[in-house]
Amino acid sequence: MKTIIEPFRTKTVEAIRFSTQAEREKLLSNAGFNLFQIRASDVMVDLLTDSGTSAMSSEQWSAMMRGDESYAGCQSFYRFIDAVQNIFGFKEVLPVHQGRAGERILFTNLVKPGDVIPSNTHFDTTRANIEALQAVAMDCPCKESIDHESSFPFKGNIDLDSVNELINSKANVPFAMLTVTNNACGGQPVAMSNIKAYCALMRKHGVPIYIDAARFAENAYLIKTQEPGYENKTVAEIAREIFDLADGCLMSAKKDGLANMGGFIALNDTKLAAGLKKDLIRTEGFPTYGGLSGRDLETIAVGLQEVLSEDYQRYRHASANYMARGLLDAGVPIMLPHALHAVYIDAARFLPHIPAHQFPGQVVVCELYREGGVRSCEIGTAMFGKTDPKTGKEIPAMNELVRLALPRRVYSQSHFDFVIEAAKNVYERRNSLSGMRIVWQPEALRHFTAEFAYLDENGSNPSGKEALACH
Ligand code: F0G
Repeated sequence: MKTIIEPFRTKTVEAIRFSTQAEREKLLSNAGFNLFQIRASDVMVDLLTDSGTSAMSSEQWSAMMRGDESYAGCQSFYRFIDAVQNIFGFKEVLPVHQGRAGERILFTNLVKPGDVIPSNTHFDTTRANIEALQAVAMDCPCKESIDHESSFPFKGNIDLDSVNELINSKANVPFAMLTVTNNACGGQPVAMSNIKAYCALMRKHGVPIYIDAARFAENAYLIKTQEPGYENKTVAEIAREIFDLADGCLMSAKKDGLANMGGFIALNDTKLAAGLKKDLIRTEGFPTYGGLSGRDLETIAVGLQEVLSEDYQRYRHASANYMARGLLDAGVPIMLPHALHAVYIDAARFLPHIPAHQFPGQVVVCELYREGGVRSCEIGTAMFGKTDPKTGKEIPAMNELVRLALPRRVYSQSHFDFVIEAAKNVYERRNSLSGMRIVWQPEALRHFTAEFAYLDENGSNPSGKEALACH
């Protein structure tokens, strides 16, 4: 059989409320054209994130009933560390309530002001946690990562020349990181050959390596299918080969843990782990629960095994591929190759007449919502750009992308058809769309709360509500 089907069937459903376009226009305007300010019940297909949005399996729901809520030494913790140690192979495992809590605890123990921490690309909370300690989070994405049209399969690779240069400089590098897959760079995977070379270089210089493992199984699956020599290895074997090269990892279990909440730090350095446990107790909880309930620990223990299933990964790939093909057939420009956790629309090519400082990605996000109640996420100048405080001018981001994140095991092929149709309709009327400006923004992390307004056809700045009337 050629047709790849979901390796599961539906047991429980969650109703979707259908809204009208007129209703959504009002909601958009009231939300300051910021989709983070819209209620989930007003969204028809929610592709904002793949984080914490997975549908759990009946095995996970059953495991929750086994949740042992004892303060110390709960059975759920031992099932959790067995699962983590089996897959990742590290001696010490510290649960945390989500990925960024692990970042904060590890970094406060390792980072001093002025230190430099390289990675292929740091995720934004990772960067924020490093910068909060007055250190530098240095992104070293490979050269191929900026070409959105080439078919190079491992655009998540780290650029070894930049890392080499850093190591040979006078900078203090307390540890190095690598994000698999590279979320901030289009969810692109890292090749095993690149991981090996990076780890060998760091080891030569005595620099420990921590892997950001949020989407480790998807990265391992892409190594299996794209990197010669790995086709006959299991996803689990490939994952283990990655982690055997590193000193530890940070994991947000909200992605490839198939859980709605949770994460962990895993490492081999028992002395460092003792220090981390002190902070864990002070800020998250006793080390056998680390800010999670026993129920959560159980869901992660089961989810980590399910995510390694080849049938699951094959379906995951096929569904992302279906979305990517559908968009390409509709003429919508996307980043290639597509990732597994998301398909990224290239808003700069979608709306070439709207310059970066007029937020083309934010326009696409708002129009997808207006068209079909589809919620996506701008990853461009609204998120990563800055308004120069002196000139008031926008300093644009490197890319203008719109992420259609794919929650795991949640949406069906017809939901995807619906999203593709919405994108096609918006694309067909792209020439009538104008850019946006920021009406209000906070000092940091502006994309969550900033308010936007459309510019009118003459490029002037009416308020949000008036602007809507221009369309
Ligand atoms: N690392 C990566 C690569 C991530 O993508 C995320 C979260 C984190 C760390 C932080 O984990 O959310 O559990 O604290 N990414 C989400 C996203 C928010 O939408 O991509 P967390």
